[in-house]
Amino acid sequence: MLTALIVLSSLTGRQLSSQLPPRSVYNLDLNWKFALGNADIRSKDFGYGTLGQDSKPGYPDGPPSPDFSDSSWRTVNVPHDWVVELPFVPDGKADVGHGSKPVGRDFPATSIGWYRKTFSTPKMNPGDKLKVRFDGVFQDATFWVNGIRIEHHLSGYLPTSFDITDFVHQTRPNTLVVRVNATRGSGWFYEGAGIYRHVWLFRKNAIHIAEFNPAVDSKVIGNKAEVTVDTLVRNQSDKNQEVVASTVVIAPSGSQALGHTADASAEVLVPAGSSRHIITKMLVSKPELWSINHPNLYSVNTVLGSNGHILDSKISQFGIRTIKFTANDGFFLNGKRVELKGACDHQDAAGVGIGVSDDLDIYRIKQLKMYGFNALRTSHNAPDPALLAACDKLGFLVMDENRTFDSGATDKKDLATMVKRDRNHPSVIMWSIGNEEPLNPTLIGKAMALTLMHVIHKHDVTRPISMASNQGNAWDGANSVLNLRGWNYISNGDTDLYHKLHPNQPMYGSEEASTVTDRGEYVTDPKKGYMSGYDANQPGWGSLAEGWWNYYEPRKYLAGAFVWTGFDYRGEPTPYGWPCISSHFGVLDTCGFPKDVAYYYKAWWTKQPMVHLAPTWNWPGDKGKDKLVWIESNCQQVDLKLNGKDLGTKQVIKLHHLEWQVPYEPGTLEAFGINHGKVVCEDKQVTCGPVYKLSATPSATQVVADGEHNIIVNVAALDANDNPATNASEEVHFSLSSDNASIIGVGNGDPSCHEPDVYVQKPVRLPIGDWQMASVDNATQPMGVLPDGIKLSWSPVEVLSDAQQISQPNTAAVFKADFNLSDKQTGMKLLSIGQIDDVGDVFINGHFLGHTDHWDESYNFPVSEYLKPGKNEILVWVHNIGGGGGLGKGVSLSSPGNPPQWKRSFFHGLCQVIIRAGTSPGPVVLHIVDANGVATDVPLNMVLGASLPRL
Ligand code: GAL
Repeated sequence: MLTALIVLSSLTGRQLSSQLPPRSVYNLDLNWKFALGNADIRSKDFGYGTLGQDSKPGYPDGPPSPDFSDSSWRTVNVPHDWVVELPFVPDGKADVGHGSKPVGRDFPATSIGWYRKTFSTPKMNPGDKLKVRFDGVFQDATFWVNGIRIEHHLSGYLPTSFDITDFVHQTRPNTLVVRVNATRGSGWFYEGAGIYRHVWLFRKNAIHIAEFNPAVDSKVIGNKAEVTVDTLVRNQSDKNQEVVASTVVIAPSGSQALGHTADASAEVLVPAGSSRHIITKMLVSKPELWSINHPNLYSVNTVLGSNGHILDSKISQFGIRTIKFTANDGFFLNGKRVELKGACDHQDAAGVGIGVSDDLDIYRIKQLKMYGFNALRTSHNAPDPALLAACDKLGFLVMDENRTFDSGATDKKDLATMVKRDRNHPSVIMWSIGNEEPLNPTLIGKAMALTLMHVIHKHDVTRPISMASNQGNAWDGANSVLNLRGWNYISNGDTDLYHKLHPNQPMYGSEEASTVTDRGEYVTDPKKGYMSGYDANQPGWGSLAEGWWNYYEPRKYLAGAFVWTGFDYRGEPTPYGWPCISSHFGVLDTCGFPKDVAYYYKAWWTKQPMVHLAPTWNWPGDKGKDKLVWIESNCQQVDLKLNGKDLGTKQVIKLHHLEWQVPYEPGTLEAFGINHGKVVCEDKQVTCGPVYKLSATPSATQVVADGEHNIIVNVAALDANDNPATNASEEVHFSLSSDNASIIGVGNGDPSCHEPDVYVQKPVRLPIGDWQMASVDNATQPMGVLPDGIKLSWSPVEVLSDAQQISQPNTAAVFKADFNLSDKQTGMKLLSIGQIDDVGDVFINGHFLGHTDHWDESYNFPVSEYLKPGKNEILVWVHNIGGGGGLGKGVSLSSPGNPPQWKRSFFHGLCQVIIRAGTSPGPVVLHIVDANGVATDVPLNMVLGASLPRL
């Protein structure tokens, strides 16, 4: 890195020492205020939406107004999905496909989310620009800064960014407000709702590297790589400017990449208000290629300079690798055939819904890798950039899919955003423009596909374009123009015939399997909504794991396929409805715990000799009854023993499982994998006793206290002999020893479990009504003391709307309200007053709380020490200087509510809890205790470290 920087400074001059660096990035994920609004009733949507309110920018009503008091709203951190917090709606009364949650047109009270955040303007160089980016808000979001509506963005899956330079305050805090409208979904699966990906603020020079730039491409030529860096330079200043772009390639080790031309520069005139591309090319010697086993990541440091000064600089990660899909031999990475062993997945996880953190993305990809997967299809939408970063880092291939197959103006723009945003990721090996599109086989579908392909080609010509098609052998239409034929389900047609008729089009399985199984269940039970865990059930269009893989494995013209799905997800509980709330398709459950079917893939997709034995061995009352024993193994033979008694050895047939019928008797069932006559691996199922201890496996024990990191803790019940208590279903309680971290979600992988994944601390708000007002003649009465000895004449008054009760300028009045509190209610923490116009003094039970002097601001006063059970009194002394004045916009007491008690039942002896780091370093212990008092502690540590700058 050092070498690279030396080279750059000699190439481009220096930054003025008095100035800030040309660019900085701040994270805005923490401390948002959140409340549900209402899609139908204006008064329940905080009064938002008066007809014509948008006619003059800067004067909105309701929460977008900077004066709005959000003190009674809950504090949340992004990523946040509010739908996962809502209770289930039973009996199919909410869309079962979307997870039986109260969201959509029929649920106006839970389908609008309001978010408000206050932030200060960062230090800026003269002429700097500020831009906010939301990586993902589901969906249909409207954005205001300081009361000015500046953006409306429909897509729930693509980022939106907007320049806020014109609207920010230099000397006081800014308010950023988002109204999210989830009344209309976009897909047919659980989609959640909220600000569920990162939020950023960028400070940039007026002349800067444009968003999602540069585009970095590399070509491998012999033992060198030619790296092309295409940088779009945007000049938002009012002067034409000669700009030099200097680029340096930094090797995975962090030093300047080998090769005489691993740095380059080029110059261009960028007219004021315009953008221009600058292209530089460099040669890297002996490139360390990005691959599944060696995910080497290079970077390019791009520096823009002019007249000896640095205008902007940015480091962009990329990988050097070659990809090729062939019509006869499948897919090649760096010249070697790689079978796509892929998983389709939705962005949904136990505990958090769509609010999947960067660490959870990494956890999920690692789980898939354990069972031999090497590829991910981001079905059916553009992914979180953090997921792509995880795939780059871990060596996972990606089919990057668009949400809507539509060539209208908005969708073309969205697709272009996806390609520009994602094109530098080496993990992305193809673009997908749709899934099972009814228009695919039509002439319209063909025209739309061509238009979308042009959109992609404008920003990336290095990857093939595909679509997941369930139209079987259909050719006319979109299939005939796509670079790659994605095949959804072999049951839909004859791939051999298609290949014969269209021998030049490479093919792969964009979706296969849809095998339905549940972890730890061995009897299909429609009433409870469980599928047996054996690889034995699929819907009409799907296949068993063993079935589809036996079809694909020998056909080398098929580049492999993507299993529907890697993980279970909320919604689509095929073949059931309520009481099921999540799918049965996953190879892993919603927590990432493996089902038995995961071991079919592990057996044939990984090399290590392995054997896996099902079912679990607890069948009380079934002594002597035959049980189907199902074994997945990649060994030559497997030997089975029950309580030491040999049940025989069987020969493994490649790509197939083994079965035994074994009369049940409690004890130990053991399977031994044998190669060349020697036992090389084993597995066992033991009839277990009651839960005796808990074992907890955290994904990390130490993370940086940056408020972002997650620790995923998997909890297992064990019996007295350390055997998994696979029938444990008791409730488990979780708590943390300090505020250095917080629990954000729990899960257990049970597709019919209706326990909450999230426990929300519910703020309590007590509106203070019954106000009386008395005019005070002597307007010079000193503020800060209770008016004493003055005879007041009281009359009832309403304080909910704009303060208007005092009509004369330079007059004063006292407002008074009495209210009763129960013992419990004395825990109220804050008194909030919407408006005191123009200046005032506030008293509670005779205690002076404070003076106010901004007529258009709301005020909060800490009050807990002044409240008492029984009768209490608030007095507000208001002095109106000019215009109308008084007390307005509501008065209330509030408290954050009681901290939630977190719990979750075991499902077949396993459950999961997700912890989010706080912002102060220090130890924190996770206490886990089950309903019978069996407990364990997990010591965790939040440490100091590099953390994202915040405002
Ligand atoms: C496919 C569809 C997926 C999912 C799956 C369930 O047809 O593309 O989104 O619904 O069926 O089997």
